[in-house]
Amino acid sequence: MSKSNKSNKSSKTNNSNKSAKTLTGRMAAEINEDVHNFNQSIIEDRYLLEVDIMGSITHVIMLSEQEILTEEEAEQILNGLGGILEDLSTGKLEYDYEAEDVHMMVENLLIERIGDVGGKLHTARSRNDQVALDLRLYARSEIIDTMNSLLDLQRVILEVAEKHTETIMPGYTHLQRAQPITLAHHLMAYLEMFSRDESRLHDCFLRTNFSPLGAGALAGTTFPIDRKMVAKQLDFAAPTRNSLDSVSDRDFCIELGSCLAIVAMHLSRFAEELILWCSWEFQFAEMHDSFATSSSIMPQKKNPDVAELVRGKTGKVYGNLMAMLTIMKGLPLAYNKDMQEIKQPLFDSLGEVQESLDIFTPMLQTMKFNKENMRKAAAQGFLNATDCADYLTKKGMAFRTAYRLVGELVNFCIKNRCTLDELPIEEYRAKSPLFERDIYEVISIENCVKNRGIIGGPAAKMVKNTIRLVKSEKFGKGK
Ligand code: ARG
Repeated sequence: MSKSNKSNKSSKTNNSNKSAKTLTGRMAAEINEDVHNFNQSIIEDRYLLEVDIMGSITHVIMLSEQEILTEEEAEQILNGLGGILEDLSTGKLEYDYEAEDVHMMVENLLIERIGDVGGKLHTARSRNDQVALDLRLYARSEIIDTMNSLLDLQRVILEVAEKHTETIMPGYTHLQRAQPITLAHHLMAYLEMFSRDESRLHDCFLRTNFSPLGAGALAGTTFPIDRKMVAKQLDFAAPTRNSLDSVSDRDFCIELGSCLAIVAMHLSRFAEELILWCSWEFQFAEMHDSFATSSSIMPQKKNPDVAELVRGKTGKVYGNLMAMLTIMKGLPLAYNKDMQEIKQPLFDSLGEVQESLDIFTPMLQTMKFNKENMRKAAAQGFLNATDCADYLTKKGMAFRTAYRLVGELVNFCIKNRCTLDELPIEEYRAKSPLFERDIYEVISIENCVKNRGIIGGPAAKMVKNTIRLVKSEKFGKGK
């Protein structure tokens, strides 16, 4: 099942007769079952199980090195945790939906397996710094996965663009035909977006990469723990600097959610264009049959459902970001249970974006582009009008005058149902003696593209150059 589906917290925990396993001590009565269901985070916590155990292993090693636990105690606990990890990786571990959260589940399991010494695991630690640690560890690996999926998509964009550096198509503003470009140039615009997304995630990684463990519940601990050692063991840049902030900070979740919202926005724009291009009105492209769906009633239909869903899921990813921002708004320092609610929207966004990327890439890779129709569309709509005005401007006429004059020529063409290329030289010269026969060459659609060889322009030479550069920067040897 997909992560996004799994992270839906609609189902209640298993309401069996067994009493809920919760902390007792101060409270004389067992927790009310509905309260348990309301309070738990065990459903979302599935994603944190592995990192939670890794964090605990590191914690125990540190406690032993600092002689807070004896070597023997540490060994027993490490063996127990190792066994749980092993069972998890072999699929033998039974997930305990009755535990309040993953931290209690692992601790309960440990005590069940190795006895009371398991209760020493939580020495010098709170679930508050533990969950902060788990979330950072998990976010870190998810960031890397998302960056890799973004790289895969960029690789495919380069691959398709490389085949279409000479494929002329209309460029649009206001969804009106504007100036001729190439398909490669258009696709490479998306490469820029996804490349920025990748670097944004990288920045987010850098801010996520600090270890909060040792912050305790809020004010650290009196035990002589070694926070630097824990940070180093878990590959963090350093320990966090303020214990209150360490347990109450979810900026990295919101920042990640925001990076994901921008990725989704880019995917959605791209999806929208592909949907348009696959329409009968455009006929610029066609989805591979394996990425399209049909209608239950209209036999002729070939629908771009996948692209539409990518576009639709963007709404959820935006909503998740807003949810996270709102959950954190107004929380006094330090930890508050509200923060547990961050997990579901974060995990949902991670799942949706990951799935969208992973389906979008092969969809793009297998699409067919209709060069002829793109070229035909570029011939209609006076896409060379700017070049016509520039022609006069280069001969000394003020651009604004040339602009007006060419506007009049376009009007004339519309009335006479012809294109600027078909307009007789006499009509041109009647407007301005600056026009000569070479105007036809200057306004040929191919030359309109070719002559835009400036940095960032659509000319094949320039786009090929960019493709080569990006390829060697991102995918060159040793990358
Ligand atoms: N399940 C909690 C969460 O996800 C863990 C921290 C609980 N801390 C507490 N003091 N109740 O945020």
